[in-house]
Amino acid sequence: MSVDEFTVTPWSVEGDVDYEKLIQKFGTEKISPELQKKIEKITGELHPMLKLEYFFSHRDLDKVLTEYEKGNKFYLYTGRGPSGLIHMGHLLPWIFTKYLQDKFDVNLIFQITDDEKFLYSDEKSFDDISKYTKENILDIIAVGFDPKKTKILIDTKDIKKIYPISLEIAKRITYSTVKAAFGFQNSTNIGMIGFPPIQAAPCFLPSVLEGKPTPVLIPAAIDQDPYWRVTRDIAEKMGYPKPAQIHSKFLPGLGMKGKMSSSIPETAIFTTDSEEIIDKKISNSFTGGQPTVELQRKLGANFNICPVFWYLRYFFESEKESDERARKCKGGELLCGECKCDLKDATKPFIREFKKKREKAKDQVEKFLFE
Ligand code: TYM
Repeated sequence: MSVDEFTVTPWSVEGDVDYEKLIQKFGTEKISPELQKKIEKITGELHPMLKLEYFFSHRDLDKVLTEYEKGNKFYLYTGRGPSGLIHMGHLLPWIFTKYLQDKFDVNLIFQITDDEKFLYSDEKSFDDISKYTKENILDIIAVGFDPKKTKILIDTKDIKKIYPISLEIAKRITYSTVKAAFGFQNSTNIGMIGFPPIQAAPCFLPSVLEGKPTPVLIPAAIDQDPYWRVTRDIAEKMGYPKPAQIHSKFLPGLGMKGKMSSSIPETAIFTTDSEEIIDKKISNSFTGGQPTVELQRKLGANFNICPVFWYLRYFFESEKESDERARKCKGGELLCGECKCDLKDATKPFIREFKKKREKAKDQVEKFLFE
């Protein structure tokens, strides 16, 4: 663990993340009230994920919006490393990406880094990863992206589309740069060390496809930022606009600390989970509650450290409802069992509907792939 008591890399998030400190550490910018207003002016409303500061940080979002107002459209770019099934944490940035696609009426490139996950995992074979690629694509389509404006780029299948750009990038980035940005060590396999240009390449693909410099906006949780830092440093030298980002926080897992992650499946809700499993996982969730009902009534509970609270706030509740829940929790009016029930009641119908969309997605896959 670092001196900050938390670490955030594209492959792991540990400890209690202090997002203000992370902004300083990564050198990103907080989404200011002025920038929120600028977004609101264009979209006609402020999306709850912005209002609640779930999306809280950015790089050059203001510039992308200014260009958009002048009539220069950007591309959206986001992605998935298919190391397992999709959980609710993954869905949050994708739901927001779909919202941006609809509101700004823009194209989206969705990268699947099957190569990255094969290289990263010690246990998973390439067949395992390919199975997850197929499964994850159903989830991506189920989010509701526009098939006419979205292309899913599978690294090992579509490498031809990005290899020339990634070579240009690779030539301009040194080992010491990636070592510092990603924390690579002597024991890191050389596939991982050579991988960053592959995730960087889709930042410039829109310029290649459009035949002119085309801005790109990347919505993702902040763990992916190291990729964009190294890409931004070389973008202009290569004649491309620096890729812009909008960063989210993490949906916590249902355990005591840390983000929702497929590597701790008992604390993650997957889109494929049965209702019994969802009930069980939420019943077993950590909360900010007191050891007994009496103490909770007397002292109140701590919603700040409670994943059930944050999950409800970011996924399902309005600011007003959530603030009211916080007030009642703090004052001892609410018991943890009640919040868990509310979370079950919100999650189960959501997953039920999502599963139907996932089924329908099976007939749509071809429409989303590059030929
Ligand atoms: P991956 O598969 O780890 O994560 C996919 C997306 O989900 C976000 N994420 C979360 N967001 C909120 N709460 C959580 N608990 C949570 N866990 C994961 C990630 O930030 C990401 O946006 N290398 C990438 C794949 C990739 C990519 C990209 C991601 C390729 N190109 C461009 C974002 C943008 C990866 O393995 O993501």
